[in-house]
Amino acid sequence: MDTITNLMKSMVYVILLCLYLKTHICLAADTITTNQSLSGDQTIVSAGGVFELGFFNPGSSSKYYIGIWYKDLDVVWVANREQPITDTSSSELRISDGNLVLFNESKSPIWSTNVSSTSGTSIRAVLLDNGNLVLRAGSNSSQPSWQSFYHPSGTLLPGGRIGFSSITKQKQILTSWKSSEDAAPGLYSLELDRNGTNSYILLWNRSKQYWTSGPWDEKNRTFGLVTDYIYNFSYVTNKNESYFTYSLYDPAILSTFLMHASGRVRQKSWLRSVNQWQFFWSQPRQCQVYAFCGAFGSCDEKSSPFCNCLNGFEPKSKVDWDLQDYSGGCSRRTYLYSGNATSDNAEKDRFLDMPSMSLPENQESVDAASIVQCESICLNNQSCAAYAYDSNGCSIWIGDLFNLEQLTGDDSDGTTLYLRLAASEFKNVKSNTDAALLLWWAVITWKHHFNCSFLFFAGAKSPAKKRSLVIATITATAGLLTVIVGCILWKKTLGKRRERRRKYNETKSNIGAKNDAELPVYSLKSILVATNNFSETNKLGEGGFGPVYKGILTESQEVAIKRLSKKSGQGHQEFMNELKLIAKLQHTNLVRLLGCCIEDGEMILIYEYMPNRSLDKFLFDASENMKLDWDKRFQIIEGVAQGVLYIHKYSRLKIIHRDLKTSNVLLDDTMKPRISDFGMARIFGINQTEANTNRVVGTYGYMSPEYGLYGQFSEKSDVFSYGVLLLEIVSGKRSGSFYHVERAVTLAGWAWELWKEGKGMEVIDASIRETCRPHEALRCIHVGFLCLQQSPADRPTMSSVIHMLQASDATSLPPSKEPAFSTDIRNSSARGSSSETCTRFSNNEVTISLPEAR
Ligand SMILES: *[C@@H]1O[C@H](CO)[C@@H](O)[C@H](O)[C@H]1NC(C)=O
Ligand SMILES: *[C@@H]1O[C@H](CO)[C@@H](O)[C@H](O)[C@H]1NC(C)=O
Ligand SMILES: *[C@@H]1O[C@H](CO)[C@@H](O)[C@H](O)[C@H]1NC(C)=O
Ligand SMILES: *[C@@H]1O[C@H](CO)[C@@H](O)[C@H](O)[C@H]1NC(C)=O
Ligand SMILES: *[C@@H]1O[C@H](CO)[C@@H](O)[C@H](O)[C@H]1NC(C)=O
Ligand SMILES: *[C@@H]1O[C@H](CO)[C@@H](O)[C@H](O)[C@H]1NC(C)=O
Ligand SMILES: *[C@@H]1O[C@H](CO)[C@@H](O)[C@H](O)[C@H]1NC(C)=O
Ligand SMILES: *[C@@H]1O[C@H](CO)[C@@H](O)[C@H](O)[C@H]1NC(C)=O
Ligand SMILES: *[C@@H]1O[C@H](CO)[C@@H](O)[C@H](O)[C@H]1NC(C)=O
Ligand SMILES: *[C@@H]1O[C@H](CO)[C@@H](O)[C@H](O)[C@H]1NC(C)=O
Ligand SMILES: *[C@@H]1O[C@H](CO)[C@@H](O)[C@H](O)[C@H]1NC(C)=O
Ligand SMILES: *[C@@H]1O[C@H](CO)[C@@H](O)[C@H](O)[C@H]1NC(C)=O
Repeated sequence: MDTITNLMKSMVYVILLCLYLKTHICLAADTITTNQSLSGDQTIVSAGGVFELGFFNPGSSSKYYIGIWYKDLDVVWVANREQPITDTSSSELRISDGNLVLFNESKSPIWSTNVSSTSGTSIRAVLLDNGNLVLRAGSNSSQPSWQSFYHPSGTLLPGGRIGFSSITKQKQILTSWKSSEDAAPGLYSLELDRNGTNSYILLWNRSKQYWTSGPWDEKNRTFGLVTDYIYNFSYVTNKNESYFTYSLYDPAILSTFLMHASGRVRQKSWLRSVNQWQFFWSQPRQCQVYAFCGAFGSCDEKSSPFCNCLNGFEPKSKVDWDLQDYSGGCSRRTYLYSGNATSDNAEKDRFLDMPSMSLPENQESVDAASIVQCESICLNNQSCAAYAYDSNGCSIWIGDLFNLEQLTGDDSDGTTLYLRLAASEFKNVKSNTDAALLLWWAVITWKHHFNCSFLFFAGAKSPAKKRSLVIATITATAGLLTVIVGCILWKKTLGKRRERRRKYNETKSNIGAKNDAELPVYSLKSILVATNNFSETNKLGEGGFGPVYKGILTESQEVAIKRLSKKSGQGHQEFMNELKLIAKLQHTNLVRLLGCCIEDGEMILIYEYMPNRSLDKFLFDASENMKLDWDKRFQIIEGVAQGVLYIHKYSRLKIIHRDLKTSNVLLDDTMKPRISDFGMARIFGINQTEANTNRVVGTYGYMSPEYGLYGQFSEKSDVFSYGVLLLEIVSGKRSGSFYHVERAVTLAGWAWELWKEGKGMEVIDASIRETCRPHEALRCIHVGFLCLQQSPADRPTMSSVIHMLQASDATSLPPSKEPAFSTDIRNSSARGSSSETCTRFSNNEVTISLPEAR
């Protein structure tokens, strides 16, 4: 009996638990009719189960909104952005007077579709499978009286629109959320330029324009740079209305276009393979977003987070700052002297120099003969916050500073900005040395007292002497205390630095213990000597993962030194382990890793030096490409294939390169190819889990469709990139240089057109067309097409590629299908420059993590 009761009890618990866990109880319908209302956890779901509508609260916020979201995924539309509610059970959404109205806890209407006409009996709100919420009266086919697509919030779904109508005077704009946990309208919005430029623009606070897409190009069907092969943009303009909208080439993809809280328009797609959203491109650069870091914040494209308060400033609102809402800006820690000087001996303000800054706008030019005079002009004007002195003379800034950008590395052509701070701020800067002096003094004093008191103890016989003894003891104790205080101060100032060092030292000792001489570890000092302190003159180029320098190590050995960007997001131990594996790979067509250096936060790889640099330097340069005759090109084609085959198949690791392209193929002194940067994807990818990726691998123009669209990766994606490389080597044309030719938009598309018409010879680079062995060159083109086929299964493996390349004329190759992307692929770099430069995007862009690849 007991067991049965217990069983029933536990069943009740299970049922209760299930009910508790089930957060949204569906009305199991896609419609709200006149007699229904929605409240609490109730939702409606579109007929195909794609979208859901109901109450939600973003993040851990206690504010509730009516919204539409992809079922189990992100919110795409919000109704009551300005007036959230706190209690969902007593609020309701229902049809009232022909409108869909949201009533708050005290039954006051706080949001309404607000259409005047049609009050009938059969009014209903239907959530469609494209995410559009429509208000209908009458038949299902009649024009809706209201639809959410005409009132977008922050996200534009396929089919939605941005524009305006001259008849209804309505306009559709996308407005960012304030932060990820606050759906209230933020400062940034995207709208169609009402000046008739047929561009859409980004505005700050609905007024200040900071970016434009460039005008619509009807022939190319693009807005300036914002194009890609996922979206089919349309722009409609006539006397009555102008708007832009888009559809998806592949309707199976979930993809949205959104005005992100970071002030950038971004394209986001759901990658089924890894179950996460990925941003495929964003415009503009983060630091170009107007006032993104607020007053006295400084933006740094290469740091994470992007925004930091200037020295001497702190975030006005720590909470917002942590939610990545930087718009509140920073405030001074210490008031300026001129602000409220109370006593006469208060020190005047001073200036902190901040090198390599891109200067904020709203400067005022003043006449000054020298930097000294410039400084004194600024100092004497109470509202002057900073000055700069460069070839344009003296500039001063009055009031708050906005749009400061810290430039680093290659674009260090910034100017030094002198920031006004209270004099006491400079004492804080010096506090390290102060603490050291104090400790020094304490040690001396203590030593002295100890010595004396010891003597006193020895000869303490008379009361007078005893009294001195007491005094001495007190002084000794005081001295001891001083030492302790000194030590605490010392520890405080050094502790942080120690903590930072500890990590690297740990790694270094690990290396020392386990390195069993597989991979030589060099000291940072020797690297600095070898590269002349990473001097510009030694710089060979900028690779996907950081700059590369030429260096001369001991015994005048020439090496290429790659300085990895510091934020790999990876533990140093894993990094080392990975390196040791990679160092074991040896093949004549791979660049050898000779050593490494991990010190002081630097991660440096040392490779053998390739005097002839990379393939693209020859191939695409009219004056150099004569040096690559057909024999050399064929040698490169075969060599690269061998190298790729090795990393795919014969190395223990099975590496997928993921970024095969001409600039990653280096040439030795006999023009034999050596693949570089192999294993980089692996090194950087080792710790990537599905939920945490922040590295990009791949270059548009070389990326296979399944990788670009779905993030699926396999050896066949490298085969695809190899196909692009093949066509580039044979044709001498960049894959990215074809956007402007009519009809075909890629190298593959162009070559395919000629090939189909039997004009394959015209694909071959003019400089070698006469001298090459045509059957070999044509065979290469054919193999290229086979590698570029849409379906990975259709593409050959690397070993059959090698067989095909070496086959005699008589052996016929299988026919190829039309290459993928022959018409639709377009460059969509985050920075909007040519496809060659978009290897890497800033934080969290196009990062695709690939479980299949491991
Ligand atoms: C709504 O309810 C009223 C009475 O309860 C009923 O007469 C009417 O037909 C209902 N309307 C709809 C659309 O179901
Ligand atoms: C409901 O909205 C009305 C009007 O905006 C407002 O006065 C009232 O305070 C709100 N009620 C609650 C509980 O927030
Ligand atoms: C509803 O529309 C009318 C004009 O059509 C406008 O005056 C009113 O402010 C709107 N109300 C809301 C809540 O948007
Ligand atoms: C509209 O379509 C739904 C289902 O598709 C149907 O149940 C409903 O009766 C239709 N309404 C009208 C007014 O045609
Ligand atoms: C629109 O044109 C006016 C006048 O030519 C100009 O002042 C304004 O800045 C323009 N607005 C935008 C958003 O381009
Ligand atoms: C935005 O503009 C409004 C006036 O149009 C102004 O009151 C408000 O302070 C501005 N917001 C910010 C953050 O500057
Ligand atoms: C396509 O765009 C490019 C660059 O924006 C332009 O040079 C070219 O003329 C356009 N092509 C057509 C067919 O309009
Ligand atoms: C792109 O959109 C336009 C307008 O909606 C349509 O006519 C065209 O067929 C679409 N193109 C593709 C390839 O889907
Ligand atoms: C503009 O609107 C008017 C009135 O609504 C309509 O007659 C006309 O056809 C529309 N023109 C276009 C180009 O849509
Ligand atoms: C400066 O003045 C403000 C009020 O204007 C006051 O709150 C602050 O304490 C003063 N600071 C100093 C250092 O006197
Ligand atoms: C500071 O400089 C600004 C701009 O040159 C000027 O308008 C203002 O009057 C000056 N203030 C003082 C106190 O000199
Ligand atoms: C300590 O005492 C000895 C003996 O009196 C003396 O020679 C020495 O200089 C003293 N040291 C200090 C640091 O005072």
